[in-house]
Amino acid sequence: MPILLDGRSLTREIQNALGQEARLLPRPPGLGVILVGHDPASRVYVDRKAAAATRLGFHHVQIDLPEQTTEAELVFEVDRLAEDPAIDGFLVQIPLPPGIRRDRVLDRIPATKDVDGVHPENLGLLALGRPRFVACTPAGIMRLLERGGVPLAGRTATVIGRSAIVGRPMSLLLDRANATVTMCHSGTADLEACVRRADVLVVAIGRPHAIPGTWVKPGAAVVDVGMHRLPDGRLIGDVDPDGLDAAGWVTPVPGGVGPMTIAMLLSNTLEAARRSQVDRA
Ligand code: GUN
Repeated sequence: MPILLDGRSLTREIQNALGQEARLLPRPPGLGVILVGHDPASRVYVDRKAAAATRLGFHHVQIDLPEQTTEAELVFEVDRLAEDPAIDGFLVQIPLPPGIRRDRVLDRIPATKDVDGVHPENLGLLALGRPRFVACTPAGIMRLLERGGVPLAGRTATVIGRSAIVGRPMSLLLDRANATVTMCHSGTADLEACVRRADVLVVAIGRPHAIPGTWVKPGAAVVDVGMHRLPDGRLIGDVDPDGLDAAGWVTPVPGGVGPMTIAMLLSNTLEAARRSQVDRA
């Protein structure tokens, strides 16, 4: 049976350490979160971020904006958090309602407060091998792989999905760890072949059970970024677990990647606070 890459226990450990480090700063790290509209999954995510930040003693500001918010109104709120000296880092929850240009909003977040790692400067620094703020989900996945003792150097890695917030930074991080990385997407000709040769497989497609477990190479590490709620209330991922028994490592859904994303957000916020409160002092 595969080894479970348990995100819940690693998150607890990381958050305990972050809480202790935060207490050494002149003032609590400040995290801002902007949510536009009423996407139910986004609501759950931002509530979890708020609960974790509060538990660690971080200063936390939540800005909830209605679905009809204009791009100009959202940019106004981004600028307010950008100028707020008590806020060390902030994020705008994705997806945004139609009519708001995501890039226009995300580019407006100062790179030094971009704890989600989505600003072009931060993604560019990662691409150059000089990471500053790394997107939280891929950063959390690297920590899970490291904790599980999954070998990366010289191995074949396949990343399915090329979003700026998961797939693209994920492939850059695996490349930095000296894996040989293939990025797959909707235009990939033979997805099954790419999955079958992967020693490390990261799936972030956003479609329930889109990848059959029977495609997975025996002994491979399988990281499932997907999370989908079925009508009966169960949560399932992008990978169908049927046939996964021969994998070497798997992330559970839920309790694998999800909690790690929040731990890395708090870690980036602490780092932003350290840079603004200590390094500049
Ligand atoms: N939507 C889904 N995941 C994320 C995330 O990590 N950050 C933001 N801003 N939006 C998301």
